[in-house]
Amino acid sequence: MPSKILVTGGLGYIGSHTSVELIQQGFEIIIVDDLSNSSIEVLDGIKKITGVSPEFVKLNLRDKKEVNRLFEACPDLSGIIHFAAHKAVGESIDQPLKYYQNNIGSLINLLQAIESMRKRFSFIFSSSCTVYGQADKLPITEKAPIKKAESPYGNTKQIGEEILYDSTRSNRLIKVISLRYFNPIGGHPSIEIGELPKGKPQNLVPFITQTAAGIHKNLNVFGNDYPTLDGTCIRDYIHVVDLAEAHVSGLKRMMANEQNDNFEVFNLGTGKGKSVLEVIKIFEKVSGVNLNYEIVERRPGDIVEAYADTTKANKVLRWKAKNDLGEALKTAWEWEKKLRNI
Ligand code: UD1
Repeated sequence: MPSKILVTGGLGYIGSHTSVELIQQGFEIIIVDDLSNSSIEVLDGIKKITGVSPEFVKLNLRDKKEVNRLFEACPDLSGIIHFAAHKAVGESIDQPLKYYQNNIGSLINLLQAIESMRKRFSFIFSSSCTVYGQADKLPITEKAPIKKAESPYGNTKQIGEEILYDSTRSNRLIKVISLRYFNPIGGHPSIEIGELPKGKPQNLVPFITQTAAGIHKNLNVFGNDYPTLDGTCIRDYIHVVDLAEAHVSGLKRMMANEQNDNFEVFNLGTGKGKSVLEVIKIFEKVSGVNLNYEIVERRPGDIVEAYADTTKANKVLRWKAKNDLGEALKTAWEWEKKLRNI
């Protein structure tokens, strides 16, 4: 019998790619999304790729009554992948309470609804490598210490993990896997879904593709005086479809009772660090477009270097990122061209 899985934020960037993967691997899903940072058309994209029209509920997870009603209406739910959260770092510094109320409030509402089901329940949490800050040792393993969060957004990920950990100690029925993403990029190879940043993108790859599409005059490279090979910061860019697959592996692990502990964390990256200039160079190669870019001041709060040690995810989740940076950038560019009719 297929398991029914709730995907919160399932129309968002990582949520939509994971929804596709879940459907393709035989899971029955219910997507909830408040459409605050996503678009209903994404549902059509998911349908085009999978041939399945998943159940969709427009819902604000901050509304406790609505969350309870959803769980009462779906007694056959056995798992959740929780993506729904605000994620703009800068905005979180300006409006911290908005972030704590939404990201933490929604998580608590969900956990209380899950507890009241009184049955085994698998929970995958969208976490971030931001919890490590500037790690002292590279590559970063899951044992690296959690550093003080640089932003309220980052703090909601740390607090979220702590709330989930405590829940697994008090309630043996709840199983959790927290996935710490490095830098997700790219889109589905079908070009039916991809990243849809609202307003001016803050992240590197959507800014690159929009600049190549002529939306911005040039790309600002934030600093070239870091202690790295070419002076620009280093990140671990992972194809969003690879990332999506890891969620399904995690879910299967919990459902098959394979966990060593009811709370587990995994780093999800490729294990390879690339500098901003390397990303630009590879993008130019795969797209055939010359990018206008300019070196400007460092961006406050940026860490110098982060890339994952993926040994634990490779071994325990039996998962490995398959796509390289060129592949991921190619899909990001194809998606941008489709959006802009290029
Ligand atoms: C950022 C967030 C991080 C969040 C992650 C989600 C900050 C400080 N950090 O991480 O908390 O978890 O996004 O994906 O916002 N860059 C440019 N020009 C640009 C944009 C970026 O040079 O226009 C550089 C940055 O300086 C950085 C690299 O590109 O070195 C990647 O930046 P970005 O995509 O914003 O990701 P993170 O900084 O890793």
